[in-house]
Amino acid sequence: MPVPLDRLIASLSRTGMTRFFRRLFDEYPDLLMKDQTVEAVRPDRTFKIAGKWVSNFGSDSFLGLDQDPRVQEAVKRGVRDWGTHNGSSRAFSSVRPNVVAEEKIAAWMGTEAALIYPSVTLANQGALPGLVTRHDVIVGDQYAHNSIDEGMKIAKGRGVRTAKFEHNCPADLARVLGELRPYRHAVVAVDGVYSMSGELPPLLEFQNVARENDAVLYVDDAHGTGVLGDRGRGTVLGSLGNYDNTLVVGSLSKAFSCLGGFIACTQAARDVLTVRSNPLIFGGPVPPPYLEAVCTVVDILESPEYSHIRGQLDANVQQLTDGVSRLGLVVMGGLVPIVSVLVGPEETTLQAGRFLFEHGYYVQSVIFPAVPHGAGVLRIQVNANHDPAVIDGLIGAFAELKRVTPLPGPDAAVLRFPQLSGGTPAESIPA
Ligand SMILES: Cc1ncc(COP(=O)(O)O)c(C=O)c1O
Repeated sequence: MPVPLDRLIASLSRTGMTRFFRRLFDEYPDLLMKDQTVEAVRPDRTFKIAGKWVSNFGSDSFLGLDQDPRVQEAVKRGVRDWGTHNGSSRAFSSVRPNVVAEEKIAAWMGTEAALIYPSVTLANQGALPGLVTRHDVIVGDQYAHNSIDEGMKIAKGRGVRTAKFEHNCPADLARVLGELRPYRHAVVAVDGVYSMSGELPPLLEFQNVARENDAVLYVDDAHGTGVLGDRGRGTVLGSLGNYDNTLVVGSLSKAFSCLGGFIACTQAARDVLTVRSNPLIFGGPVPPPYLEAVCTVVDILESPEYSHIRGQLDANVQQLTDGVSRLGLVVMGGLVPIVSVLVGPEETTLQAGRFLFEHGYYVQSVIFPAVPHGAGVLRIQVNANHDPAVIDGLIGAFAELKRVTPLPGPDAAVLRFPQLSGGTPAESIPA
C-alpha cells in the first residue's frame, strides 16, 4: 500500500514539466548533456566529463580567478584562521572577514555600504519581499531572472501587488506602473545582463520612468559584476553615472569565483535590509574561507592588474564573436562573455553540442523551456584564461559543424530569449 509520500511523488511525475524532461532524457540519452559529473579539472580550463578531457566553455568564472593561486591561498588561510564555517546566522554574529568583505565591496563599488547574502538567489528572495509592504508594488521585467520572479511571489504571498512588463520596454513599464496606481512605493526589478542573450537593459530610460512614477530601480547585475564597467563594477554606474535611487545586486560566484551575492546600497538601506531579509536572519552565511577569497578578489579588481585580465577577457570575447560571425552564424551577445549561437530545433541543438564535445569543446546546449520552442542555442562562456589557440580551435569546430549540420544564417528571424530557467510557464510546454 503506497504511503502518501509515494503517491505525492507519483503524481508529481505525471505533471507536464516532469514528463517533458523525462521524455528528453528517454529520447536523447546520448545527446542530452545535462546533469553531467565533472570528473577532474586542470588549471588550463580543461575538464574531464564522461571520461573525456575537453576545453570548458561553460564556466562563468569569467576572469579565471578560480585558478588564481592568491584566491586559492585566501581560501586556505580562511580555513586555517576561521574553520570551515561560522555556524551561526548573521543575526547573531558575523566573522570579521564578513565585515571586511562588505567594507571592501562598498569601497570598490563606490557605495556607502554593502550586504552579503549566501547567493544572488537568496538576495533576491530576501531583499525584494523585504523592501515592500502591503501598500507597495513590485514590477519585474518579464524575462528577469527566476530568483526575481520567486522574490516577487514571496512578496505577493504577503499581500503585495506584483506585475510584469514587456522585456526591456520602458514604455510598457510606464503603462504597468500607471495601471497599478495608487501605491505608496514601487520597486522595479530588472537584470543588469540577460544571461541567455547577453542583452543589456535600457537602464537610463528605466530610471527616468521609475523616478517619474515614484519607483525605486533594483538591478540584478549578477553577470555584469567583475566583467563590465570601470574596475568591473558592473552595468549600473556606467549607464546611470550614479547609484541614486538604485539598488545594485552583484554576484560573488561568477566572475568573483567565490560564493555569494551582495547588495550595494546606502547605509540606511543596509540597516533596513539586514532586519527585513529573512534568508539572512533564518539562514546561514557565506563560509569564512570564501569571505577571505572575496577580499582578495576585490584587491585584484582594484589593482592595475585588473585591466590586464579584463583586456585578455575582452580580446577572447572579440576573437570568438568575430570568428563565429565570419562563419555566417547567428550570434547573440558579444557585450559580455556570454556568446550564444542560434541552432534552432531541440534535437539539432543537442546534436550540435554533442558534436562540439566529440571535437574537444564543451559548450552548453540550451533548449526549450530555457529558450523559446524551436530556438535552441549553443551558449559559450568565454574566460580570460582561455588560450587564444583553443578559441581558434573552437571556431574551427564550429566551421566543421556548419559543414555537417544546417545552421541558421543571419537572415533567420530575430528571436528574443527568456532568461535561463526564467519565466517560461510550465503550461506552455508542448504535449
Ligand atoms: C541575473 C541572475 N541572477 C541570479 C543568478 C543566480 O545567482 P546565484 O547562483 O548566486 O544564486 C543568476 C545565475 O545565473 C543570474 O543570471
